[in-house]
Amino acid sequence: MNEFLLLSGTANAELAAATAHHLGVPLCARRIERFPDGEISIELQQPVRGKEVFLIQSTEPPVDAHLVELLALADACRRAAASRVTAIVPYFGYARADKRVMRREPITARMVADLMQTVGIGQIVTLDLHADQIEGFFTIPVDSLTAVPILCDVLKGRLPENTVTVSPDAGRVRMATEYAHHLGTPVVVLHKRRDSSTATTVTQLVGDVGDCPCLIVDDMISTGGTLAESIKVLLNAGARSDIWIAATHGLFLDGARAKLTHPAVHEIWVTDTITRPQDDWPQLHSVSVAPLIAAALKRTHTDDSLRDCQTPG
Ligand code: R5P
Repeated sequence: MNEFLLLSGTANAELAAATAHHLGVPLCARRIERFPDGEISIELQQPVRGKEVFLIQSTEPPVDAHLVELLALADACRRAAASRVTAIVPYFGYARADKRVMRREPITARMVADLMQTVGIGQIVTLDLHADQIEGFFTIPVDSLTAVPILCDVLKGRLPENTVTVSPDAGRVRMATEYAHHLGTPVVVLHKRRDSSTATTVTQLVGDVGDCPCLIVDDMISTGGTLAESIKVLLNAGARSDIWIAATHGLFLDGARAKLTHPAVHEIWVTDTITRPQDDWPQLHSVSVAPLIAAALKRTHTDDSLRDCQTPG
């Protein structure tokens, strides 16, 4: 294999270290500091000339700071004559801003795509991108891997019999169907209306959850509002007081834990695309996507298809 470099920003240092460990390579030496006014100061401390650089950085909160860091690192690589810069963005922030809902709003996901290409990123690898159509905002290759088989591997054998997989909104039906396929469960769909950035209302439940344990799946848990509302509706519809939750990206913003601390919630499973909250939370479990990212990175480097690097569910 030709030489490549793995470079990380400051977001999610544990995932970067785990990915480096799986690849058996060190992380590229770099300095990242802040000027007194808050601007970013970056220096690559080893040559990248002629090398393929994999730049791993989740744009997790604080999203803007981590995004600018990613852009600055890519710009530094391009100016130092790296042969190709591939951004590994395990969590792609701003992905929910993929359309205009109100007049005079930006399409921020598109703006982020433009910025990434402008600084010379030649390829993107991400996980469970919120909306597939974001790929169309780029003119460079975008590979969106999925953590669903990895999460299903840990859920298999843990979930009670007769579990029903629940999509919390119309946008997650495809993902829920994928979970159901791996786990051999039926699918129930909730119809969600978003009232504000933190409040949602479920208006319809399609399917039967009577006396069944439920596995609610989502791409991300942000404020926890979507899940809290889903739990309430499922229990009101007669679901057993045995709720499981699985999501790729666990942001768990302030207040999310309180919303999800419910006697019916048995286990919550996320991946490590986002730095895990430090507080002790017995119901919260995490599984690493580092082996998947490492496999995808190797295949990208050798220009092989990424299709086969997904763990079978
Ligand atoms: C929305 O379409 C997403 O798939 C998630 O359901 C949503 O972003 C979760 O956010 P929150 O936890 O704040 O409800």
